[in-house]
Amino acid sequence: MRFDIITIFPEIFDSYFDESIIKRAREKKLIDIRTHNLRDFTKDKHKKVDDKPYGGGAGMVFMAEPMLRAVGAVEKASPKKARRKIVVPSAKGKQFTQRMASLWAKSYDQIIFLNSRYEGMDERVRAVLRAQEVSIGPYVLMDGDVAAMVMVSAVTRLVPGAITLESLQEESHWNYLVEGETSGRGLEYPHYTRPEVLEWKGKKYRVPKVLLSGDHKKIEEWRKSKEKEVAP
Ligand code: ADE
Repeated sequence: MRFDIITIFPEIFDSYFDESIIKRAREKKLIDIRTHNLRDFTKDKHKKVDDKPYGGGAGMVFMAEPMLRAVGAVEKASPKKARRKIVVPSAKGKQFTQRMASLWAKSYDQIIFLNSRYEGMDERVRAVLRAQEVSIGPYVLMDGDVAAMVMVSAVTRLVPGAITLESLQEESHWNYLVEGETSGRGLEYPHYTRPEVLEWKGKKYRVPKVLLSGDHKKIEEWRKSKEKEVAP
């Protein structure tokens, strides 16, 4: 899977994409992440990417042309036959879900994110590119950059080989997010690790006894019984 991210702050992505699972997935060439500075696709000496909105109103709007040039350059430098999706992170977009992450991981070879800030982007970019506006949740962020990072994280862990087999098996607990309630399973059960008795500010917090019993059948039953509980 290849991710191309068009942004005015490419450095924002460096530290997050250079750690842990994403770093390893890149090293293993399971994913390829490239960031592109939108200002490189401007033609004026101030490298202007935004302008005032027609019709008046507060804030600035990202202009269409730099973004369209940037996408053109990305497409030109990409494999011809890539199954490609273009995403515009936006608070008014379609809600991003686990099901969508799963579909994207299976259906595309390349996802291009067009990240804007302030009041968003000239609507015609979406029309020209037939891009999809996607929201990561019902709140308004200051930028599309964080949203793109969230989507890259959710899709990357579904790329075969990105996470360990054990973690993938745990994945069945999350199937309800993909399949809906019909899967009959709920949230993942709670996890505990050492110490067995946690002492904190004069109080003791114990690991549930069943998990120390070594009785795998009982442990499995206990975990199942906890699956439906919503986290507090
Ligand atoms: N940009 C601003 N708010 C956003 C949101 N909730 N999701 C995606 N992109 C956004």
